[in-house]
Formats: sequence, C-alpha cells, structure tokens
Amino acid sequence: MAIIASRADLFPENIADVKRAGHRLQSIDAIARADLRSTEALICLLSDRIDAAVLHRAPQLRVVANVAVGYENIDVDAATERGIHVTNTPDVLTESTADHTLALLLAAARRIVEADTAVREGRFPTWGLQQALSGIDVHGKTLGIVGMGRIGAAVARRARHGFGMSILYHARAPKPDVENGLDARYMSLEQLLASSDFVSLHVPFTPETHHLFDALAFERMKSSAILINVARGAVVDEAALAQALQTGQIAGAGLDVYEDEPNVHPELLKLKKHVVLAPHLGSATEETRRAMADLAIRNVLAVLAGKPPLTPVPPPSTHEQPKM
Ligand code: GLV
Repeated sequence: MAIIASRADLFPENIADVKRAGHRLQSIDAIARADLRSTEALICLLSDRIDAAVLHRAPQLRVVANVAVGYENIDVDAATERGIHVTNTPDVLTESTADHTLALLLAAARRIVEADTAVREGRFPTWGLQQALSGIDVHGKTLGIVGMGRIGAAVARRARHGFGMSILYHARAPKPDVENGLDARYMSLEQLLASSDFVSLHVPFTPETHHLFDALAFERMKSSAILINVARGAVVDEAALAQALQTGQIAGAGLDVYEDEPNVHPELLKLKKHVVLAPHLGSATEETRRAMADLAIRNVLAVLAGKPPLTPVPPPSTHEQPKM
C-alpha cells in the first residue's frame, strides 16, 4: 500500500480506482503545509509549484502527476535527478481547449460579452445598419497560429473547415503533416503578425516564449487584429497588451490565461470593446476534467505497480521541447 497525496479534487471513480489498487489517498489543501514524508505519489495542479525543496520534503516520492498538459510548475530536472517520474495529461484536453479557443475568438470578434451585459442592463440597442455592438467578421479571415502542437492543429482544423479561414502558422519548424489538408502556410513570426486578422497562441511557457508578445509584436500586428491566448499568461507582456489595446494598435483580445493568476492586470480589466477575459477554463468541461483525472490516476497507478507511466514528461520518444 502506498500513500498518494492529491491536491486535485478527484472524482468518485478516481477514488474507487485507488482503493481497488490497494493504495491510500490523502487529500492535501496546500503543498507548503503538507507532510510529504511518506508520500509515494503526488497528484498536483498547475497552480502548485513543485520545486527541489518540495521534492526534498518527500523522500519516498516516486511519481508527480500534474493534472494539466503544461508542466512548467514542476522542476523536472530535479525530479529526474532523484529518479522521480513526472507525468502530464496531454491529448485528452486537446479538443476542449480548441473549442474554448474558438469560443473566445468568436466572443471577442462579435462582442458577445458586451452584448450580454447590454441586454441584462436594459440597454437593448435599436436596430440600425451602423448598429451599436457591431462586430468583426470571422469567416474567411486569416488566422495566425503561434505554436502548431496538438492544440494549435485542433484550432486550425476548426478555423479552416468550420469558418473557411486561411491558416498561417509559426512554430520551431514547419510541420508538413499538419499543413496537408489545411492549406496552412509556415512563416516567420514577423510575417505572421503582419498578415493575420486573428493571432492565437499555443506555445508552452519556456524562457524563450516569456514575453514573446511584447510592445514590438503588437506594433507588427494589424490595427484590426484580435489576439487570443489560451496558452500561458507570461507569453504576453500584459502591460504592453493593455497599452496596445488602449491606443488602438490592435483591436481586441480574448484571454484565458494571465501572467500572475489569479491576478489580472488592472488596465486589462478596464477594457471592454472586443476584449473577453476568461479565468483559465481551456480544459474545463465535465467530460475533459474527468478524462484528465483518469489519466493522472492511471499514470500514478502504473508507476506504483512498477510499470512505465503512460504520459511521461518529457516524452521519451521525442527529445522535444514541451508542447501544448
Ligand atoms: C492548462 O492550462 C493545462 O496546461 O492543462
């Protein structure tokens, strides 16, 4: 019997799986206060920082299972050095996160949140050709995808096949397998920014992607463009984004992630026109959250049974950088 400490609010079926495997589940409310001395498996959330000091407090630890696809919250090198497996939850959240990306893109372009507020506040606009709350068309426009991993490709499929959009993308290298069928064109970030009506971010957070979108990037974008970020907040310099929106350098933003969650830059909170702010909900559907929890549990149970984890990070076959 092993002790599995969990920061995640697991579902009944996960608890049953752990029991069936003969292990003990211990719910912890904060990593900092938890007694990890006997913990062999740790299930954590992306808001938990698992650094060398935390690992040091857990001498029996064999696996850290992050219930997220991103894993920049974990010191993977320190874990690997100690022989501790680290796992994430890729694939199961790809389609839901792509759905959410399109939801934000449509909401920002068609001003759905502003419209909802107007109706609720009794400000139903009079019908007119130059209608208050008129939006920006999405269909047939050009979408620039930055980071063509699993989620980027799922967004591209929806945009291309659902909305007839032209797809441009920038990634570490061209992806001919993704280009096929989507007529997607690979280009430099600079070219993509100058040519896209919508720019959607799907890169992991790494030292290279920190503030990839800064004042210069916004200068390069079209003044009619809308930025969508469901990746990681710190890929965008929020102060520079707020300024670009305030000065009309770009037209709007649909954001799901922030540099210092749960805090949001105060200047962003003041902006309404073509700006939609969601609280990190990319994978937040009933079905997907269950699938993520299930995958995390299966990773833990595999390691505790002496088997390799299903979705280790970094993935063993690819010597790749992290991807979303
Ligand atoms: C969410 O942001 C994730 O990485 O799964």
